[in-house]
Amino acid sequence: MMKIAWWVVWVGLLLLVVKIEGGRVRHYKFDVEYMIKKPDCLEHVVMGINGKFPGPTIRAQVGDTLHIALTNKLSTEGTVIHWHGIRQVGTPWADGTAAISQCAINPGETFHYRFKVDKAGTYFYHGHYGMQRAAGLYGSLIVELAKGEKEPFHYDGEFNLLLSDLWHTSSHEQEVGLSSNPFRWIGEPQSLLINGRGQFNCSLAAKFINTSLPQCELKGGEECAPQILHVDPNHTYRIRISSTTSLASLNFAISNHKLTVVEADGNYVEPFTVDDIDIYSGESYSVLLTTDQDPTKNYWLSVGVRARKPPIPQQVLTALTLLNYKNISASVFPASPPPVTPRWDDFERSKAFTKKIIANKMMTPQPPRYSHRRIVLLNTQNKIQGFIKWAINNVSLSLPTTPYLGSMKFKLNNTFDRTPPPENFPSDYDIFNPPVNANATTGNGVYVFRLKEVVDVILQNANQLTGKGSEIHPWHLHGHDFWVLGYGEGKFKTGEDEKRFNLTHAPLRNTAVIFPYGWTALRFKADNPGVWAFHCHIEPHLHMGMGVIFAEALHKVRNIPSQALACGLTAINAPH
Ligand code: C2O
Ligand code: CU
Repeated sequence: MMKIAWWVVWVGLLLLVVKIEGGRVRHYKFDVEYMIKKPDCLEHVVMGINGKFPGPTIRAQVGDTLHIALTNKLSTEGTVIHWHGIRQVGTPWADGTAAISQCAINPGETFHYRFKVDKAGTYFYHGHYGMQRAAGLYGSLIVELAKGEKEPFHYDGEFNLLLSDLWHTSSHEQEVGLSSNPFRWIGEPQSLLINGRGQFNCSLAAKFINTSLPQCELKGGEECAPQILHVDPNHTYRIRISSTTSLASLNFAISNHKLTVVEADGNYVEPFTVDDIDIYSGESYSVLLTTDQDPTKNYWLSVGVRARKPPIPQQVLTALTLLNYKNISASVFPASPPPVTPRWDDFERSKAFTKKIIANKMMTPQPPRYSHRRIVLLNTQNKIQGFIKWAINNVSLSLPTTPYLGSMKFKLNNTFDRTPPPENFPSDYDIFNPPVNANATTGNGVYVFRLKEVVDVILQNANQLTGKGSEIHPWHLHGHDFWVLGYGEGKFKTGEDEKRFNLTHAPLRNTAVIFPYGWTALRFKADNPGVWAFHCHIEPHLHMGMGVIFAEALHKVRNIPSQALACGLTAINAPH
């Protein structure tokens, strides 16, 4: 009798612990492989998972542990997957960045990602080796609140839209072009995809607009047929939108309907209502939409390119689908043309939208009042021995063969550049003109932070290599969210500009854009031991060296699985 009672107590305690820990382990098996698909109605080779493109959507709850057994079924190249927006607290080795947090997984091998999702939000995952994201290696990752918790807003249903761009050249061809002399730019995408579906060289709305494109003829059930959003009248829907584009900056709108932005990159924002939103690569949003329009009609959902000049003027690349009020047929065309994408170069409009995003004070911690250290990062296009690159403070990132996490943890020599990279650029640098001396160097040094150091990063934009012009760059930080303290024009002025930092409603994000000829100020706390990439989320830019490496408190990193260390000098020198 006594014996049984003890068992009951033990089991009870165990269950309680599991309950307090509040999470279950969710198991996934991901097989990464190339496959032939028709994402934009034409056949292409894309990278997918378990036979799917985009990869399967992961849905979990706050507190869950994800265990993803990822098998590389590519025959001749390595792979890794990064969980974009997940901070990987305590599991920096699971961040999925080749040469940074782990060794690329070899063909035929399986790597086990195990990490906790600790914050609700709209996230995604993607390849982080070579240009595998451009090849189509991506999918959605949605973290819901734990059972019993409530969102600070109401909705009746939800949709999830993952936006991407597609080229008809392979990612390998793109890579070769980008690293050739003479340089070959990848050009603009051929199609935009919504949940992996788009229509090349035709428009669903050709009948409604003045275009030379033919009307798309889509037989239902086709792989490239748009997913239609079926809604009931007078309901509120949460639309999760994330962008994993390789290049394109996008604008999202639904005709006749307002959008109320409530979430950005997994953080609550002070709700605001707009007709359309801009979304840059690496960003995610949740918007609320109320179906309060004429229920006897259908409406366009439109995604168009911004911030880069369309190759054919007046023909903005667009992806379309329908918002279908369920009481009428989804094959009824809307009565009016789709929303017009704002002009590509109306950056004042882009800035006005971006500045509307401020923190929801009740839900978001505010930044520390002061920082310990300031790093200014100048973004320039450069030439290195005749090759065109992007560089940060004149250093273009070229990743080492031994991943940083292992080599820094085990203090291995000769694995990367030990000289710390520059924390500023010459004060006489003219950001409004092409560089006087375009030469730069390649490097792979690391910005090392003390545990809990509060760091300000000023991202400084500049003029392109030749001629007049300056592009946007969405910068993404691994392992953290940062507070966006402000955006400004021209060269950042210490003193004057920092007085205007937003220290009371700064939004927390993992991606922030720099506008042409402008600066963006970020603040974060180095409280997550590990080695973290910070880079432009435009895939070809990163490939051309547009990134830096941050490292924090390596002495606190424990239990790196030997699988993550099986290459370079860690393969022989790290304790296994
Ligand atoms: Cu989504 Cu390092 O990127
Ligand atoms: Cu960029």
